[in-house]
Order: sequence, then structure tokens, then C-alpha cells
Amino acid sequence: MSNHFGNTRKHVEICTSTNLLAAEWARAGTPEGAVVSTDFQTAGRGRLGRTWDSESSHNLMFSLILRPNIKPEHYGQLVLAAAVAVSDVLSKALAFEVVQIKWPNDILLDGKKVCGMIIETVSGTDALILGIGLNVNQPTFPETLRQKATSLAIFSGKTFDREVLLGWILESLETQLHHLYQKGVSDARRCYLAALAGLGERITLRESKEVIHQGILAGVTEKGHLMVMEKGGIRVFVAGEVSLSDFYATAESPK
Ligand code: BTN
Repeated sequence: MSNHFGNTRKHVEICTSTNLLAAEWARAGTPEGAVVSTDFQTAGRGRLGRTWDSESSHNLMFSLILRPNIKPEHYGQLVLAAAVAVSDVLSKALAFEVVQIKWPNDILLDGKKVCGMIIETVSGTDALILGIGLNVNQPTFPETLRQKATSLAIFSGKTFDREVLLGWILESLETQLHHLYQKGVSDARRCYLAALAGLGERITLRESKEVIHQGILAGVTEKGHLMVMEKGGIRVFVAGEVSLSDFYATAESPK
């Protein structure tokens, strides 16, 4: 039987986190490509220990089981390939409006986050879980998020069929990831750099809200790590939160 992404799928109306359900499923031996989706999460997991909150039944929240046949040191390329796969679909859905990627894999519209992704390992297995949250038809966001978050509907004034979008995203992920598995390297990096927000601009990098570095965003390495230019040359970072706009506003000094 062909094992296209999404051929095996579970949808639950409510759960703690689709990443947790997918991890359980992966532990039971479920193959790559299986998907868990939901309408509402009570404990959605975000990057860097954050939570992911999403209004019920408006958006897409799903997790995909991956069993990549590439070396763990190349896993960073999965992040690049996944970001490019989703941004390609959004660009098509939005009639080629500008869709940007904020390192490592936030997708931005008008500088606001419309999609977040998290890749987690499943201990004791060769599986990874790619969890994606895409704000689709959510009409508003709480005041505290309004400057930072958006949805496809807010951006375009249209509503979208979540199932159709999910199908396109899974197909695009399958194409990008299988290419990576076959070649051992992804050619997504070129597309990633073309969509990278802040390339050539001053950025601030934080970890746990502390400024760890400021400099010019110079790109990403083949492994998907962030390259920041400073007087002494290029420095490479594997983790952190990039801010694009507050280089001059911050009074904190880099460590
Ligand atoms: C981030 O931007 O911090 C990543 C957010 C990822 C959210 C998605 S929603 C579906 C899946 N299940 C989770 O618990 N998290 C991911």
C-alpha cells in the first residue's frame, strides 16, 4: 500500500496536544506519513517551552510522524524543508502574496505570525514528530497578540477550506522531505533564503528572553543554523528567538 503523507490519519475533536498523540502512535510502530489532527488542544506545545493556543475549529493543528533516513546531524534540514513546503502552499493559497519565513520556521504574513512548527524526537524510537499550527479562519486575536499574530482570513479577507489546505500541505511536505531523503541534502535552502525575513538586516537573538546576540542576519547554514554577521566575522547559532525590529529599541546589551 502506498504510504503517502496523510493516508493514515486520526482526527480528534479535542486533545491535549497532537504532538503527544502522534508520539504515542509512533511508539506503537506507526509508519512515517501518519497524521493526527484536531479541532482544539488543551496543552498545545510550542517551541522553546511555550504553549500554542488556537481557537476551536477555525484553524489547522496537526502532527506528522517522520522516520527520516538521514543522519541526525542533518535533521536541521528537515526544518528548512518543512518551512519551505508550508510557505509554498500559503503563497499559492494567497495568489502569490509575499509569504516570509522567520528563522527557524515561523511563517509570517505582513510581519505577523500565521504558522508555527515544532519538531520533537520520540525517545526510544527513530521517529520525529513534526507539529504544525496554522491560523486559517480565526477572525480576531486577543489584544495582546494582535500585533504579532494573524490568520489567512484576516490577511486576505477570505475563508479557506481547512481540509483542502491540509491536503496541499501534506503533499508539499512529502515532496520536499522525500527529495531530502533521496539526495541527503535539501535544495530547499535556496527557497528558504529567498523567503527569509530580515536577511541582511539587523536582528536581535534571544534565549529565554535574554539578549544573546545582535548583528546582521547573514543567512542559514546547510544544517539550518542561523548565521549572524558581526565585526569579527560570521557566528552560527543553533537555537534562539529572532526579533527583527527591536535592534535599536532594546536597551539590553548582548552577552
Ligand atoms: C511554535 O511556533 O512555537 C510552534 C507551534 C506548533 C503548534 C502545533 S499545533 C499542532 C501541534 N501540536 C502541538 O502541541 N503543537 C503543534
